[in-house]
Amino acid sequence: MTGFDEPSPTQTALLLLGRGSDSGSERGVDCPGDLPPASDPSLLERARVAKESLGDRLFVLGHHYQRDEVIQFADVTGDSFKLAQQAAARPEAEFIVFCGVHFMAESADILTSESQRVILPDLAAGCSMADMATGPQVEQCWTDLTEAGVAEQVVPMTYMNSSAAIKAFVGRHDGVVCTSSNAKRALDWAYERGEKVLFLPDQHLGRNTVVREMGFDLDDCVVYNPLRPNGGVTAQELRNAKIILWKGHCSVHGRFTVDCVNEIRERKPDVNVLVHPECTHEVVEAADYVGSTEYIIKALDAAEPGSSWAVGTELNLVRRLAHQHPDKDVSFLDRTVCYCSTMNRIDLPHLVWALEELVAGRVPNQIVVEADEAKAARSALDRMLTLP
Ligand code: 13P
Ligand code: SF4
Repeated sequence: MTGFDEPSPTQTALLLLGRGSDSGSERGVDCPGDLPPASDPSLLERARVAKESLGDRLFVLGHHYQRDEVIQFADVTGDSFKLAQQAAARPEAEFIVFCGVHFMAESADILTSESQRVILPDLAAGCSMADMATGPQVEQCWTDLTEAGVAEQVVPMTYMNSSAAIKAFVGRHDGVVCTSSNAKRALDWAYERGEKVLFLPDQHLGRNTVVREMGFDLDDCVVYNPLRPNGGVTAQELRNAKIILWKGHCSVHGRFTVDCVNEIRERKPDVNVLVHPECTHEVVEAADYVGSTEYIIKALDAAEPGSSWAVGTELNLVRRLAHQHPDKDVSFLDRTVCYCSTMNRIDLPHLVWALEELVAGRVPNQIVVEADEAKAARSALDRMLTLP
């Protein structure tokens, strides 16, 4: 018994859909050639054989939200920070197969050399949050900040979960990338260089970090909505704010509510509530522990046998943690189970297809960031990688 709350018959398994063009739904056909059927009983063996025959030419990265059937073939698993570091640290690998989502593969392409190829097994593996900030919208925001007379005081900063275009914008304006495991350090860096920060695209990570870890008031934050004229904020509000939060969020983490926390505390009075900082501020305030996927894994590793945990992050990871810790009671924070649909796009058939294409001498689904964009984005990524 793992203690993991499997979905009851009345619970619905949800797949939250990415939206918009960057998610991949409009990127077109992702698998020229034959995608093996999921029912093919030889898939595991085919993946193993293909991986073995590629040997050191291949390096497979797997984000913690990937399915078990895929993660077992990863050479390294990690949060988005660790995976970016790992991609940058493997100059000898000819092919980097990224089991994750599009913005991660883009970052890997930016951080690797010209001769290395980064492959995303399914091009439809995007991220709805990353799609919430487009290049033209962010340029418009900068114009609004300039007209309000604040742009010169602002250091732009983007969460890793953003397109290469956004990272390039941030790089061109002397800003920095952050992930959920180094947002505080990146913000410290930014406030040494400017009075205000424009935080893209996840309002929750930005708000949670400045309020919980840096002692800001909620009133120090203003939310810029790219879908409204002037972002829906006045010039005075921009002048008063210490941080300008982009109105973006993760639909998967947005499902966790304070009611979920109260409900589990009622059922399990000793429970420790552990959530990802992409959850809303109210949920984070109601939780006991907050951190990135890597932090969540370490917290469970260090937990006492017999202790009880409700985890608010993507279901593939929570389910895996429950199975890895049968001596602890690990449950999913929401009663309704919910995967990240785009992370889930990378399944065993897509992985087998991508690996077998490489064995056949063809490079499938290569992710290439255009050179100028890559150069600007790299400066913002490098600043993150060299943060103390
Ligand atoms: P981390 O792995 O950086 O915690 O981020 C989670 C995430 O949302 C990736 O999409
Ligand atoms: Fe994007 Fe949220 Fe999925 Fe992460 S979990 S890839 S932020 S939609």
